[in-house]
Amino acid sequence: MEIVPPKINIMANTIVVFTGAGISAESGIPTFRDSDGLWCNYDINEVATPEAWERDYKKVLEFYNQRRKNIMETEPNAAHYALVKLEEKYRVFVITQNIDDLHERAGSTNVIHLHGEIFKARSTVDPNLKYDIKGYELNPGELCKYGKQLRPDVVWFGEEVPMMSEAYRVLNLSDCLIVIGTSLQVYPAAYIIYNASPNIPKFIIDPQASQVNNIKNLKIICKKAGEGTPELVDYILKNGF
Ligand code: APR
Repeated sequence: MEIVPPKINIMANTIVVFTGAGISAESGIPTFRDSDGLWCNYDINEVATPEAWERDYKKVLEFYNQRRKNIMETEPNAAHYALVKLEEKYRVFVITQNIDDLHERAGSTNVIHLHGEIFKARSTVDPNLKYDIKGYELNPGELCKYGKQLRPDVVWFGEEVPMMSEAYRVLNLSDCLIVIGTSLQVYPAAYIIYNASPNIPKFIIDPQASQVNNIKNLKIICKKAGEGTPELVDYILKNGF
């Protein structure tokens, strides 16, 4: 009897994509720190901290209602769709800092939201108790089953980032890291790029990308996500990375 050895796929096959607000900019969702960014028009301390919630939870709810309304009016762009195409050949994990749902709406299957999800509400007494938000509003008086006001299921400044351990788990599986549209100014999320294996190829797609120190095997693509991502994806699908 002839023993046929199994075909071994020696092609490295797991890609981790780490995204920030820049990937959704061309869909019409403002970033945070660009010149027209959200944090130029709003004070973080008034809308995105636990203290802000304690002080004026109605203002915080209204801020996120406006974000949700904006997001509902947008569609995924070419960058979100290109990442879905990558799944034809690779196992892809998207780790996103974004609270929008554009990766899911485009069709990405493994999405880890480091900073939460705007279309979910969370109990203020049990962080694991979550509800879907129908429509764009989460209003004062909407309560969890314990009778307490619901808050947006987003991670505020000064709060833990519970999904970080899951992000590191998939990062450890990765053979390639693609970073798209983030200023890498917010931690612990930004540690993702520093904690990727020095041996794997890494790409940054961002029109304002600057050199990131001490990162080996890094190629910077100074383009908007909607242009740079489909180009990189087509290249990888044809040639590998
Ligand atoms: N394509 C790609 N990148 C873009 C585009 C675009 N069309 N437009 C802007 N960018 C880039 C900017 O050059 C910048 O580097 O996107 C990045 C946006 O940076 P930030 O506004 O700081 O957004 P992000 O890095 O996602 O912020 C991290 O901060 O307040 C928070 O919780 C919020 O998750 C967010 C975190």
